[in-house]
Amino acid sequence: MSLVVVSNRLTRGNANEPMTGGLAAALLPIVEQSGAIWVGSSGRVRDGTQKEPFAEIEALGTGALAMLDLPAAHYGGYYEGFANSALWPALHSRADLIRVSQEDYLSYREVNAFMARALLRFRKSDSIFWIQDYHFLALGAELRELGVTRPIGFFLHTPWPAREVIEGVPHHCELVEAMLAYDLIGFQTEDDYENFASYLSSTLGLAVEDGVVTSPHGKTRIAVFPIGIDAEKFARQAARAISHPDVSRLRRSLNGEKLAIGVDRLDYSKGLVNRIKAFDQMWTAHPSLARAVSLLQIATPSRGAIEAYSNLQNELARLVSDVNGRHGEVDWTPIRYLNKGFSQTVLAGLYRTAQVGVVTPLHDGMNLVAKEYVAAQNPADPGVLVLSKFAGAANELDTALLVNPNDIDGMARTIAMALSMPLLERRMRWEAMMAKLQRHSIQHWFTRFVETLRETRGEAETPMQMVAEPPAPPWPLRSVNAR
Ligand code: G6P
Repeated sequence: MSLVVVSNRLTRGNANEPMTGGLAAALLPIVEQSGAIWVGSSGRVRDGTQKEPFAEIEALGTGALAMLDLPAAHYGGYYEGFANSALWPALHSRADLIRVSQEDYLSYREVNAFMARALLRFRKSDSIFWIQDYHFLALGAELRELGVTRPIGFFLHTPWPAREVIEGVPHHCELVEAMLAYDLIGFQTEDDYENFASYLSSTLGLAVEDGVVTSPHGKTRIAVFPIGIDAEKFARQAARAISHPDVSRLRRSLNGEKLAIGVDRLDYSKGLVNRIKAFDQMWTAHPSLARAVSLLQIATPSRGAIEAYSNLQNELARLVSDVNGRHGEVDWTPIRYLNKGFSQTVLAGLYRTAQVGVVTPLHDGMNLVAKEYVAAQNPADPGVLVLSKFAGAANELDTALLVNPNDIDGMARTIAMALSMPLLERRMRWEAMMAKLQRHSIQHWFTRFVETLRETRGEAETPMQMVAEPPAPPWPLRSVNAR
């Protein structure tokens, strides 16, 4: 079997380069170890004078990366438009932020169709396709249109919202009907599964029986596959990273003061405004914590051409400066606020340095920062995770201090409690979380999804394995014009 993985964003897998978002970090080890080819956007666009999709291909572990230039005429309407101004807010239950036009929708469909044509280049007789995330809801249907009959799975990294919220996207019926061309649809949590199943029955009149729905496309299995991380590898990386120059400089600058850390893309789903307000509230309510603890908030700019994102960036900059102005001293800055990305290596060391990890999204599919923070801790003296109960990760990391990200007072109290938690309790909570991370690794997620996809299509005789040696690639490791 050969596996073709598709996502909008790719990463080249250099541990020293910044990586955007959990999806790229999660897929990297499975492509490296499974021999898959990972196809996605190169981040560049091309105009329509070129007949065939252009792909730059390079090796990645035992697998390969194929970076496609997407069509210039449709890229904006697809990425900033429909994917991130209509679907993303809807999927994160922010119906108030949905901005949609027919033109953007058509561009989204064009890019899905373009990707389907490009994928034919990487198809072999035993290929299975695994499509990732909301950028490509209709890609399975486009592949079927082109005559692809091999198994096609889809995994949604974001939440799936309540029926009335997704119905705020005018094209919801067409899109969900197109999704039913997939053989398997995976969600992060039971809630996402339930919301999707309830949409199918209430809006499309399709019943889900034993996790299977029948539509004009045939049968589709729906199931839950919470995504994990390689906790052992991340732990080793964190232990080494503690001596990285950036991490040592941070430690020296703390002068014995405690550190809380937040690491997020600058996105309204991440609850950053409420988090900053909670720290403000904490320093007001507990003046003894001023100077005793500071917050390092990394907020990596994202999708900046979209108004909701640029507005948020301005709001946060004002808020942080107001809080620092009120609580700061000549030799103490309460919030160190950084608008840039860091490599996984440096992040691992920063997480290990911080006594508290604050991960307080208003809604999040999983949130791998929460898992990475836990994996990075020193087992002898672990930090405390303060986690939103609306992040998918809260289902597994239930011995974190769970908070409601809308309750600013409650968060302020919980962060103060985290800072004074005794070692014994910290260790008990951390050990329970780490044991779960080790059981539900990214490799486990990958194998379960691929096995379920093959079973769904009656192909699961030989178990899927991670390979140590690369298979001979059917594609040349150089730039090609994908046909
Ligand atoms: C989330 C999404 C991913 C996306 C990532 C970064 O994790 O689920 O699909 O790639 O954010 O967002 P960006 O728009 O920068 O690719």
